[in-house]
Amino acid sequence: MLADTSAVDAGELRIDGARLLRRLDELAEIGAIEGTQGCSRLALTDEDAAGRALLATWMRDLGLTVIVDAIGNTVGVLGSDSVQGAVLTGSHIDTVATGGRFDGNLGVLAGLEVLETVIDHGVRPGRPLAVGFFTNEEGARFAPDMLGSLVYAGGLQIERALQSVAIDGAVLGDELDRIGWRGAAPVPGIAPHAFVECHIEQGPVLEAEGITIGAVTGVQGISWTKLTLTGQSNHAGTTPMSHRRDAGYVAVRIAGFVRDVVDEIGPPQVGTVGRIELYPNLVNVVAARATLTVDVRNTDDAVLTDVEGRIAEFAAGAAAGEGVELATEVLARFVPVAFDPAVIDLVEHVAEQLGHTTMRLPAGAGHDAQMLARICPAGMVFVPSVDGISHNPAEHTDPADIEAGVNVLLHAMLRLAEVGRVEERAP
Ligand code: GLV
Ligand code: MN
Ligand code: MN
Repeated sequence: MLADTSAVDAGELRIDGARLLRRLDELAEIGAIEGTQGCSRLALTDEDAAGRALLATWMRDLGLTVIVDAIGNTVGVLGSDSVQGAVLTGSHIDTVATGGRFDGNLGVLAGLEVLETVIDHGVRPGRPLAVGFFTNEEGARFAPDMLGSLVYAGGLQIERALQSVAIDGAVLGDELDRIGWRGAAPVPGIAPHAFVECHIEQGPVLEAEGITIGAVTGVQGISWTKLTLTGQSNHAGTTPMSHRRDAGYVAVRIAGFVRDVVDEIGPPQVGTVGRIELYPNLVNVVAARATLTVDVRNTDDAVLTDVEGRIAEFAAGAAAGEGVELATEVLARFVPVAFDPAVIDLVEHVAEQLGHTTMRLPAGAGHDAQMLARICPAGMVFVPSVDGISHNPAEHTDPADIEAGVNVLLHAMLRLAEVGRVEERAP
């Protein structure tokens, strides 16, 4: 179909920033963390269900065709009843338990705002436009992270995904049914024409460089491992040190090693032990059991593989030295992803033409776009995070930066949908 741009000069189109901010505020009320700007909306909880319902209402109010698939991914399509050939945007509305209001939510509401802008101005794109939210992007409740978009892209079988067990013991498929979001659309999903995601940077780079728009080059490799150490409970006062099988001691040694090895390798290697649990977790009892998670990431997969090996070797040695059993479970492992060069160029070009400062940078966090990149040309638009803070209720991005980023998304999507033009910058 040929593009019809007669109704509007698409280059002049701008989103309604105030409307977008109102929606961000309204969505952030669901799971709001009292006394903060943040949100607690773990995947497939009642709060997630309420957020989903609000998004679906907004999608239907715009006249979009709403498609829910077998893992709960939800897409609203404009101009078609399918994402076949569509330019798709979106992100996630689940948050970590102590999250901000922008991570993921911005990308979904940005997409809704782009579609509403297109509708309001009577633009008729040459391709359908679509906005979606993907199930369990955060991975804070169910592993792996980006689970919904991974299933959509065919990287994880639905049967296995539905069996994922939450940190609270719930089973993903049961929770999906409980909140009523197991849909009829099959997975893997239909590959769209292209996918572009708008997201906060969640790091300090854009702010430090004084840059408004990041053209994201790719996503670093991610490795998540859960280690379970089993020793023996005993009396803290009577048990000689030589007689102990202290799972807690081994856990903190491993945590210390993760930090040491990452510091030794240096940037861009990062490593985090974000979760340690001891049993029975009492002042005067040697811990019988310890579980900890290790999150290591790098843009270079060979270095990442080497770090994984060094941590595994250290953990095995530390456990054996204390007479403690070690069990290892890989929760997530994703190789680094490079985004489509044409999409990266497009984001950079549109940002420049809209008069924004721009730079290329890799993503430090995981994103749904890295999974969509398996099945279509994909890329991302980053906007700055104040003080580089994210996964924290204090997460913030200035309204002007949000508006800039979503206008870049709008024009990138219009270009991909073969409509309109961006005004050339004055020389
Ligand atoms: C998930 O989004 C992550 O990067 O941890
Ligand atoms: Mn996110
Ligand atoms: Mn996140």
